[in-house]
Amino acid sequence: MKISFLLNGETRSVELAEPTLSVLDWLRAEGLTGTKEGCNEGDCGACTVMVSDAEGLRAVNACLMMMPQLAGRALRTIEGVAGPDGALHPVQEAMIAHHGAQCGFCTPGVTVSLAVAHACGRRDHDDVLAGNLCRCTGYAPIIRAAEAAQTAPVPDWLAPPLTLPEISSGVRGQTAPAFLPESADALADWYLAHPEATLIAGATDVGLWVTKQLRTLGEVAFLNDCKDLQQIVETQEGVEIGAGVTIARLRAWAETPHPALAALLRRFASEQVRQAATLGGNIANGSPIGDTPPALIAMGARLRLRRGAVRREMPLEDFFLDYRKQDRQPGEFVEAVIMPRTAPDLACYKLSKRFDQDISAVCGCFNIAREGSIIATARVAFGGMAGTPKRARAFEAALSGRPFTEATFRAALPEMARDFAPMSDMRASADYRMETAQAMALRYLRAASGEAVSVLEVAP
Ligand SMILES: Cc1cc2nc3c(=O)[nH]c(=O)nc-3n(C[C@H](O)[C@H](O)[C@H](O)COP(=O)(O)OP(=O)(O)OC[C@H]3O[C@@H](n4cnc5c(N)ncnc54)[C@H](O)[C@@H]3O)c2cc1C
Ligand code: FES
Ligand code: FES
Repeated sequence: MKISFLLNGETRSVELAEPTLSVLDWLRAEGLTGTKEGCNEGDCGACTVMVSDAEGLRAVNACLMMMPQLAGRALRTIEGVAGPDGALHPVQEAMIAHHGAQCGFCTPGVTVSLAVAHACGRRDHDDVLAGNLCRCTGYAPIIRAAEAAQTAPVPDWLAPPLTLPEISSGVRGQTAPAFLPESADALADWYLAHPEATLIAGATDVGLWVTKQLRTLGEVAFLNDCKDLQQIVETQEGVEIGAGVTIARLRAWAETPHPALAALLRRFASEQVRQAATLGGNIANGSPIGDTPPALIAMGARLRLRRGAVRREMPLEDFFLDYRKQDRQPGEFVEAVIMPRTAPDLACYKLSKRFDQDISAVCGCFNIAREGSIIATARVAFGGMAGTPKRARAFEAALSGRPFTEATFRAALPEMARDFAPMSDMRASADYRMETAQAMALRYLRAASGEAVSVLEVAP
């Protein structure tokens, strides 16, 4: 398989023997060793690179990006952040002026993240840097550097367009073991004929199967050029979110219609992971601690699957059958999620050991509608409380039709023990999970009753 892309402004055509080769490994073998390997699993951001295409510019982790995902795109590494004549980028100048580096191992990744944010006019520096681990400088000088650089103009070598029109498709020879479909139709036909193949969307889960489990994947299909899987469309039933929509895009879109979902997604991994990870991947991997399923189930979202030309829909909760076992046939893929236009009563609470860049121990999502003071409908779903994302049906039943009061909630809380028998693991003990799930319900009650409840504030 041969792919073409721009590397620091120059066209490169690369013959790939192994389609799951990471961009990080390729770069370092090419001698571009400014991009560092820290964790090789998406956690540290030392490998952060810039990728741009028609969708715009973004920072991603090179350790989790596979080479075919670059086809037709522009890649810029730390070596390309300074100008062709060696002129420093404003972020680089500020990092020096504000002493933003000590050992320097994190510095290339930090600088690339900040340069992308600078080009995109972002000021949410904490959020931008949540996926860049710095162990020795500390973040204050880095944030000071980001602030100092933020008003400087974007250097012309980083201004759009960053892709070349001549790299139209970017890939030649779409033969086994890798397939890069450009539409859901092409994917559907191919997957039907190759049901044992692995689908790769953002590769933020699959990448780890390669880098950490050292698995050889056999036949793979990369979904990132299926534009029709990346649509967000309003329909009569609600809003249809394509499986290929990234978490970053979903978060930005959700700000107005679904602020509770947007707030939850702000805590989904890090900027780099959100820019790659897709909604379809988060659902299809069937993890009991994926963040989107509890929120979507509480909203009443439906899932659309496709196998060849045949499509079927189901309530999202019915997709998750058992631990890592989903209702998906060989050759069938996730096409879209259909969610309501709004869910004004939805609130989502993610409990994890760190605020950013951490997987949930428990994720509780509550969507409780009232008629007057009476609970009309209750949809409550949790991640981390069972082998799958799951509704709290006994708890919901104990709330429905009763007054929206603390007495009702307290009387209903024991029902959660009928819904869930959580496990103990390194993230949390079973008792702690149950206790915090119940505490989340009370937190919902208090917030919905107008009390200020923020995990960012410690009340006296
Ligand atoms: C550092 C780090 C932090 C993370 N933090 C979080 C977090 O906070 N919350 C969270 O929920 N997750 C987190 N994750 C997990 C991961 O990012 C998500 O599960 C993500 O949504 C996966 O999407 P993807 O597109 O990268 O999937 P991929 O890795 O490409 O695929 C995941 C699985 O889904 C399948 N698949 C992908 N698309 C489809 C489709 N359309 N139809 C059928 N099957 C498909 C693949 O074959 C594979 O089995 C984290 C991961 C990393 C590395
Ligand atoms: S090497 Fe740590 S995120 Fe890639
Ligand atoms: S400067 Fe040492 S890890 Fe950041």
